[in-house]
Amino acid sequence: MNAVKAEQAQAVNGAGEVIEIIHGEVKPSNLNALRVRGGNRLKGEIKISGAKNAALKHMCAALLTDQPMEFTNMPVGLGDVRTLAELLDYLGMSVALRSDGVAMLHAKEIKTTIAPYDLVRKMRASVLVLGPLLARCGQADISMPGGCAIGTRPVDLHLKGFEAMGANIELDGGYIKARAPRGLKGAHITFPFVSVGATENIMMAATLAEGITVLSNAAREPEIIDQGNALIAMGAKIEGLGTSEIRIEGVKSLNGITHSCIPDRIETGTYMCAVGLAGGEVRLKNTRLDFLSSLVGPLTGAGMEIKQDGDDVFVYRNGNHLQGIDIMTEPFPGFPTDLQAQFMAMMTMCKGAGMVTETIFENRFMHVPELCRMGANITIQGNSAIVRGVDKLKGAEVMATDLRASVALVLAGLVAEGETIVNRIYHLERGYENIVEKLTGVGADIERVSER
Ligand code: UD1
Repeated sequence: MNAVKAEQAQAVNGAGEVIEIIHGEVKPSNLNALRVRGGNRLKGEIKISGAKNAALKHMCAALLTDQPMEFTNMPVGLGDVRTLAELLDYLGMSVALRSDGVAMLHAKEIKTTIAPYDLVRKMRASVLVLGPLLARCGQADISMPGGCAIGTRPVDLHLKGFEAMGANIELDGGYIKARAPRGLKGAHITFPFVSVGATENIMMAATLAEGITVLSNAAREPEIIDQGNALIAMGAKIEGLGTSEIRIEGVKSLNGITHSCIPDRIETGTYMCAVGLAGGEVRLKNTRLDFLSSLVGPLTGAGMEIKQDGDDVFVYRNGNHLQGIDIMTEPFPGFPTDLQAQFMAMMTMCKGAGMVTETIFENRFMHVPELCRMGANITIQGNSAIVRGVDKLKGAEVMATDLRASVALVLAGLVAEGETIVNRIYHLERGYENIVEKLTGVGADIERVSER
């Protein structure tokens, strides 16, 4: 292990202060459940973290250069960030995650191009080391990825893209074995449907390929624009970010940079839904509403007040319950699938009814039976769920098997009568930095406890 170890390491920042370095796996804790007592309105401030789904890609992109990289505003406390740090460390990158949100990454040399099962199984985003490794080293063996249990989630689009760029791909013993001994070549790749991960993986690889790569029907998420901007600063030639056609002209090498990660729109939206459900007024610090117009429309339509105020977003709901409203998940700029469960939790106490349609992932309604156990009235029909508002939810012991479903149950707990125990918070910690502290800070009654 060449990475700096969590417990002993310290660094000095520009202002001369000593900063703890917190690289490493999250220590197992016996406080693996949350107890929420409902009923409090939310009031105060929450500082929004850097975007998980941009941070992970920035870390992978650091494999593309032998020069040091520094990212600020990174959600270094997240389980997923620590998991990826372990994998990158194994590949030979020196990784320091500082408690002030700075990630210092340096892949001076790649020691191995094999990403083993043990390090990859916890997180699907691990497959995003494939493009950079293939581009820089001409080969990569990646264990097939795991992650949230929200459908089959294949990676065929990633692999077809690399094949189109001249790589030979084999699936063998649970591993993706990719080879491009003479380097990757630019290609025109048209995705049959929009994939965030495939767009990012191939965009990273194309920065070092020979010639021009065009990605048609590419994803347009803000995290991809952020990643593309970081790559451009590194010397990559990329045009069309934020549109569905991205053009990348390969260069010989990329240089190190310092880059600030964008704010987490999903964390922002989650706390907006929390206020929508529990009521109150909260200032979400250091975040951007322009990433969330597909959520702001329905929330204001349902009765909330939301406005950007400098670098903050102000969210308010008075004593009235929200009106039921329909949403359908879609690729950006549509309603994000990663906010579907939270929006549904918010609708459980609406006036009237709302319909939630999931078009991105099959099997992403696992929070529904748990919300119903708390008293919600939700009926699933195919990929739609009809949520009929109820007068009250009741606390219960609940459990979720994916990140966003877990947080939806926490939100429900904020208004449920009595006590809600959310088990397996491992999922929550993968994607929500300091959620207990952030919610406590705005008046919620929530604490970590041991699973019963
Ligand atoms: C990313 C996000 C995730 C979000 C999702 C959709 C990260 C780390 N994760 O995931 O939080 O929910 O975008 O906004 O950024 N698919 C295939 N073949 C492929 C790739 C995808 O069939 O090769 C399917 C998936 O199963 C899914 C759909 O395409 O049904 C969209 O997936 P994709 O956009 O690739 O999601 P991720 O990049 O995995």
